[in-house]
Amino acid sequence: VKVPSAASTVGVVGAGQLARMMQPAAIELGLTLTLLAESADAPAAQVIPDHLVGDYRDLDVLRGWAGRADVVTFDHEHVPPEHLAALAAADVVCRPGPAALVYAQDKERMRDRLSAAGFPCPHYVVTSEPAVVSAFAEQVGGYPVVVKAPRGGYDGKGVWYVADEDEAGAAITRTGGRALLVEQVVPFIRELAALVARSPSGQVAVYPVVETIQRDGVCDEVIAPAPGLPADRAVAAQRLAMEIAGELDATGILAVELFELPDGRLLVNELAMRPHNTGHWTIDGAVTSQFENHLRAVLDLPLGSPAPRARWSVMVNVLGGAIPTLTDGYPHVFAREPRLRVHLYGKTVRPGRKVGHVTAYGDDLGDLRSRARHAARWFSDGCDDGGEGSR
Ligand SMILES: Nc1ncnc2c1ncn2[C@@H]1O[C@H](COP(=O)(O)OP(=O)(O)O)[C@@H](O)[C@H]1O
Ligand SMILES: [Mg+2]
Repeated sequence: VKVPSAASTVGVVGAGQLARMMQPAAIELGLTLTLLAESADAPAAQVIPDHLVGDYRDLDVLRGWAGRADVVTFDHEHVPPEHLAALAAADVVCRPGPAALVYAQDKERMRDRLSAAGFPCPHYVVTSEPAVVSAFAEQVGGYPVVVKAPRGGYDGKGVWYVADEDEAGAAITRTGGRALLVEQVVPFIRELAALVARSPSGQVAVYPVVETIQRDGVCDEVIAPAPGLPADRAVAAQRLAMEIAGELDATGILAVELFELPDGRLLVNELAMRPHNTGHWTIDGAVTSQFENHLRAVLDLPLGSPAPRARWSVMVNVLGGAIPTLTDGYPHVFAREPRLRVHLYGKTVRPGRKVGHVTAYGDDLGDLRSRARHAARWFSDGCDDGGEGSR
């Protein structure tokens, strides 16, 4: 088995924006990345010269490519678990390892494992029977309930609110009759995320807990730290993330999405074991970005400080809108917002697609939020429609 070191080549499966944003960190540290890319024009393949274009679902392709790397990590969680097991059997070092990653791949396995280990989760049941959905709904105060495809979902794709048994049946049919994860609709006051980097040696760096605001199931805005979060609750969230990382033996970044309840309790929504949208603010707003700490962690190097560099950081995603060429927004945004940090991913614009983000950091939270939102909307639509948060 290879022992990864700072001289190692880090292989990344997937060439989306997360792999792309690992590259600046790799450049600064003098590390080498190699990609298994879905296409030559994928966001990370544009900027990482050493890449193989190939399908991670093809085990021969995956195994052949993995030979280029000393340690393999991930831009997404879609690699089939049986392929990961085959890599492990071929002495490929995967970080996170297959046994940990499955809890970010499969929401049913995640719920079962975290509930059994005593971590607070929403009430849930797993079933392919509409009548069982209804019986569960009865127990949790009636419809609606949330149903989720255990695998393959992201950005709210694979998550549905169902209002009655017919809709439950339709969701089950839509997913090919497979069992779905059914959850109570959690009456949260807001969503939080706790992010940790964990190395194979067990060192952990924990970032400030953030508030995340989703629109149509997609992360839209992240505020670091979560405004008004009592210190004991912030520590409880950080502790949850550290304990889950240890319990599952996660390596690299682990993001724990949380629901904050009116009574102050926290429930775990889901896990990601890779750099996460709720950590993009760390590129500009923390001493060490999540991307750098992910690379340090998978190489088992000492982690960098997760401390914030400013009182507040606000990240707003740029979603695909009316403007096909995002850089058209540069003259206006750059002239208006010289302190704003802009990150575009090299993606073709499609409606609602995550194509970039902006980060504002400083002392006046209200001002930062409106500036970041204005810029993000300007990139998307060439205007700010005067809606919520506009100036
Ligand atoms: N049980 C629930 N109760 C209320 N809202 C939920 C529940 N589960 C998910 N959601 C909402 O749907 C969003 C997406 O669900 P999530 O399970 O995180 O799927 P994804 O993998 O698409 O991120 C969450 O961020 C939250 O806003
Ligand atoms: Mg989620």
